[in-house]
Order: sequence, then C-alpha cells, then structure tokens
Amino acid sequence: MTLKEAAERAERLRAAIETHNRHYYIENKPVISDFEYDLLLQELAGIERLFPSLIVATSPTQRVGSDRTREFTQVAHRYAMLSLGNTYSTDEIRDFDSRIRRSLDDEPEYVCELKFDGTAIGLTYLNGRLHQAVTRGDGEYGDDVTANVRTIPSIPPQLPPGEWPHEFEIRGEILMPFHAFERLNNQRAAHGAPPFANPRNAAAGSLKLLDSRIVAHRGLECFLYHILGENLPADNHFDNLRKAAQWGFRISEQMTKCRTLDEISTFIRHWDEARKTLPYATDGVVIKVNSLAQQQQLGLTAKSPRWATAFKFKAEQGITELLSVDFQVGRTGAITPVANLQPLQLAGTTVKRASLHNADQIALLDIRLHDMVIVEKGGEIIPKIVGVDHSQRKAGSPPFHYITQCPECAATLIRDEGEAKHYCPNDAHCPPQILGKILHFASRRAMNINAGEATIEMLYREGLIKNVADLYLLKKEHLRHFHNWGEKSAENFITSIAASVQAPFAKALYALGIRYVGETTAKKLADALPSIDAIAKANLDQLLAVDEIGERIAQSIIHYFADENNRTLIARLRHAGIRMTNEAQAPRTAALTGMVFVITGTLSRPREDIKALIEQHGGRVAADISAKTTHLLAGLNAGSKLARAKKAGIKIISEQEYAELLNIQR
Ligand code: IVH
Repeated sequence: MTLKEAAERAERLRAAIETHNRHYYIENKPVISDFEYDLLLQELAGIERLFPSLIVATSPTQRVGSDRTREFTQVAHRYAMLSLGNTYSTDEIRDFDSRIRRSLDDEPEYVCELKFDGTAIGLTYLNGRLHQAVTRGDGEYGDDVTANVRTIPSIPPQLPPGEWPHEFEIRGEILMPFHAFERLNNQRAAHGAPPFANPRNAAAGSLKLLDSRIVAHRGLECFLYHILGENLPADNHFDNLRKAAQWGFRISEQMTKCRTLDEISTFIRHWDEARKTLPYATDGVVIKVNSLAQQQQLGLTAKSPRWATAFKFKAEQGITELLSVDFQVGRTGAITPVANLQPLQLAGTTVKRASLHNADQIALLDIRLHDMVIVEKGGEIIPKIVGVDHSQRKAGSPPFHYITQCPECAATLIRDEGEAKHYCPNDAHCPPQILGKILHFASRRAMNINAGEATIEMLYREGLIKNVADLYLLKKEHLRHFHNWGEKSAENFITSIAASVQAPFAKALYALGIRYVGETTAKKLADALPSIDAIAKANLDQLLAVDEIGERIAQSIIHYFADENNRTLIARLRHAGIRMTNEAQAPRTAALTGMVFVITGTLSRPREDIKALIEQHGGRVAADISAKTTHLLAGLNAGSKLARAKKAGIKIISEQEYAELLNIQR
C-alpha cells in the first residue's frame, strides 16, 4: 500500500467509524455489530501503525466515542474515563500477559470479571452520599445524569457507616435486564414506537430521558467494577471491590482471582457458556491486574489502561426454521429482505426475525423457504442468518425467487451495477421513501426541526403532510386534533418549524435529500454556487468544476432538478422563507487569519457552530493543544486542556472575549 492509498483508506475508515459512533452513542441505534465495528477500528489502527504520519489527534483510534448530548449539563471527569483494549483471540490474551510480565518486576495476579453490556457510569460519593453521576461522554467530559441515576434501586444514595473514603468515585455499568427489556419493547410496540435494538441501547437511552419519573420505571440495574480515589481501603482491586460490596454496591459476583493463562482461559470458557443463563447481557470477560501499585507501574495509553484488557465473546448462534421472507423498503428505496423465523431463544431474547441482507447473500447461502437456518446474534442489532443446515432440507424444495417489484408501490425494482441491493426507483410516490425524505429534511443535521420520528410519521400517515413543504403549512389547530398533543407541545413543534427557515443555505440544500449530496457536498456546492437557481441551471461541466463533485454526484444533481415536482417543491420552500441563496449569510472576513483555536469546556452553543464561525473568518480549529495553538477558547468546567494551555503560555479567552474578537452579538 502506498502512502496515498493508505491516507485515502484511513480517511474512509474514519468517516465510517464516525458514522457508526453516531448511530451507537447518540442515536442508540447501531447498524453494524460490535464485531464489525472492531474490525474497522483494527484496520485503521493497522494502517496508522504502518504509516504513523497519518495519525491525527481526532482519529477514532486516539479517543473513545462520545455519548454526549445537549440536554444535560456537561461535567469534566476527574479521572479520564477510558475504554478497554479488546480482542476475540486467546493468543492476544497471551500477548497481553507477556507484555505485563515483561513490564513488571514481580509476578502479576489477575482478576477476571464479566464484561457487562450496558452503558458506563461514574458515581462520585462525598461523605458517604451520592454526589454526582456522569456518563462516559467523550472520556473527558460526560453528561450529568444524577437525577436519573438516583432512581436506580441498586445504587445507594447514602452509604451505611463504614471505612469508605471521604471522597471517591466508583464506576460501573448500568444495564437493563432481559425481562425489563422485553417488557419495554412490548410497551413501545403497543404505542407504535420503534423498539430498542438491544438492552444496552435501551439502558443508554433510558439514562438520557429528561423525565426521571419515567426512568424509575425502566427496571435499570447497576454493577460496579472500578473504584478510584486517594484513600482506598485496600492496595488491590479485588479487596476494594469486596469492600464496596459491604458499603451496599452491587459488584461483579463472578469476580475471580487468576494467576496463570490457564486459569484465565478456564474462566473465559466457563462463562462463554454459563452467561447464557444470566438475566442480563454480557459480551466478554475483563482481565485486570489486581495490585494497584502494579497498575500504576503499567500506566495508561490515551485510550485505555495497560493493566486491563477485554476478551470479547463471539456472537451467539442458534438454529431454527425459516418460515417466510418479507421485503422492507427503506427510506432511500433500498430493499431489505427480512426472514420470519420459528421463534427461538438467543442471547437472552426471543428472536422471530432476522436480516437476510440482499439477493446475493440469499443466493450465496442458497437459502430456501422452510430450511433450517443458522441465526447469529451478537448481543446487538438485528440478528442475521449466517448459514443453512443443508442436511435437514426437505427433498424437492424450490430455489428462492427474489422479488422484482416494490412491495409498497409495485414499481419494477432496479439494481445498479456494483450495488448489492435492489432499489425501488419510484422515489416521488413510494410511501416509505416520501416519509424518509421528510424525516431526513427535519433531522438535526438538516433543518433541525424538533420532533420525534414517531410524530412526523404520524402526521404523514394521517395525511397532514405529504411532502416537506407541507410542514410549513401546519397550524397549531391542526395538531391539537390529535390525541397526546398538549397546547405546549403543539406550540413547540410549530415554533421549531418556523425557526428552521433560518437554516443556512447549505443545510437547506442538504435537507432536500438529493441522492449522493451529503453534508459535505452540500457545503461545497453552496460555497461554489451562490443560489439554488444557479445550481439548478448549472451544466455538467460547471458542476464537475466544484471541489469533490464527480460524475456520479453531478448526474444526480442534474437528474434532481430536471424533475418538475422537485422544482415545484423548491418554489414552495422558498415561499415559506427558507434560504435558497448564500447572500443572507454572515459576511466572510479575515479577522482570525493565522489564529489556531482549541475549544474546551461547556459553551453556549454547539461546538460545530463555533468552529464554522471561526473558519468563516479565516481562523483554524484544532482538536488538541500543540505548538501551533494561538488561542484556547475555554467554556465552563474546562479541565485538563485549560491547565495545559496555561502551562504552555497560550492565550486563554472566554466566550465573551471570542465574541468581541469577531465583533458579534451572542
Ligand atoms: S473496567 C479502566 N470492568 O466495558 C478500566 N469495564 O469496552 C475501566 N465494562 O469502559 C473499565 N464490564 O464501560 C471494566 N467488569 C468490567 C466491565 C467493564 C463492562 C465496560 C466499561 C468499559 C468498557 C470497555
């Protein structure tokens, strides 16, 4: 691989990982399994090892993903909340052990624990009282979810008398046991709400609810596995956790001391099977060096401690009968075949449906109706069919025929060269595609209309909106006819729609959902061509002249504007007041040219916006402090970056001073 190829591949991997981080941490809706995610990360790490010049501070290999959201106060972690190195192979556990032995003077003793599959939490106790509960966030800052955590019965609000330190932090995993998860998803199904993909996402989603009374009914539990502080009772992890159990915390019941690799392997083998009887999800084993002095000696990397690692269990498999196949039409028209199965118990939940991916996959595995199929569930997402037990096939069963027409609108399906999926081309009239367009238009990164997907879906199904322009015709009175709409929520929704017209031109362009025009392309287009009219009139050459636009995107843009319906839609959006030109946008200046900013702490508006503004005025924003940094923009609760900037003599400015620098009103 050449450096250029490596750089391109790394860039692509980083973009994919960022997308999956968003699905996982923010939306709580992962689309790939942990295993597939780890493969992406491993490939990226491999490239960065070969070409260290490609490592950048913002690479996902250099930091943990982020679950931070905007509704909660952000708090700096006193001790960075790291992640763990992980592996699926016992050979790598052997390497881990050798590395530890090489770095230590004395023999290590290990503690093996189950790896709970929930969401991480850090609990701070002051004088025996629960003071604060903070999520992992980006490892440096997390969300303060104390009010929600107080509703979890297994977390003591007040410790009984004991030898606990005056101040300490205890970290663990909040989880939703399987029975509570199934109950919650049944309730959601009854209300037409989308189900959570797995107990982990359900736990993470519950913790981020704004109403603690609802959290209290979600059946959450917490297992604690790591205690941090100055005056801990013992000099080793195992005894400290035992003490914590005496103070009323739930700790890993399976925690076992091990001296040798054999003992570790026995623990892993035992729990890989025995975990299936536990009432909650686990996805591996964590192996930790027991002595705190040895932990200290081994130290940390930017991402994870050197004194601990995780062995991940392989996805659970089962075998069952394929009853029938449904075909779902996605928001982009992509067709996904979904298997209906004879229900089976797998990874703690009842599996009735599984993904079949696409026509090639079905052909490759030669899957036929009523076959006994092998189903895999990796503790997450929709289970998938990974094989067929041909020995159990009934004689004379016919090969499977893939559909040729859209099950929603009967249009003839197409399949572009090189694409794995079939598509429904009828994007103007096929119902799931219309809904998909509206949801995309309203989404946070597009017009940022503040409404849940279920709300928009309901408005569409009830016929109140047939396309995105209809949103701007909605009146409070329309909404009040529907059950569940209080005066206030109807008003909020309408206000949010009205406010959305302020979105910059690039966002509006992205919101239109032109095929292949993602956020970056929309921005480049808006930068290069001053208005929607200019873009609509541009010919192939003019479009190709725009940075990063190639033949495929250019054709798609031309195709979009050739459609009369799209032109009418744009006219209506323009009439509603949506920005269709670049003119109204803030002027560009060179006020910040040559300045390199690092942003830290909690600020009054999203970092993305601040960054955009700095760049608009000629400045640059870097992820971390370096010799090039000229300014640190420090918000509330700024932590380690502030300290480092001070030490390096970098100019530190508040948000107010930054606004003055730009001469803008906050
Ligand atoms: S110890 C610095 N122990 O898995 C060491 N983590 O993938 C911190 N997890 O960040 C972690 N069970 O959220 C530890 N018994 C256990 C765990 C555990 C689950 C989570 C935790 C961690 C993540 C790493």
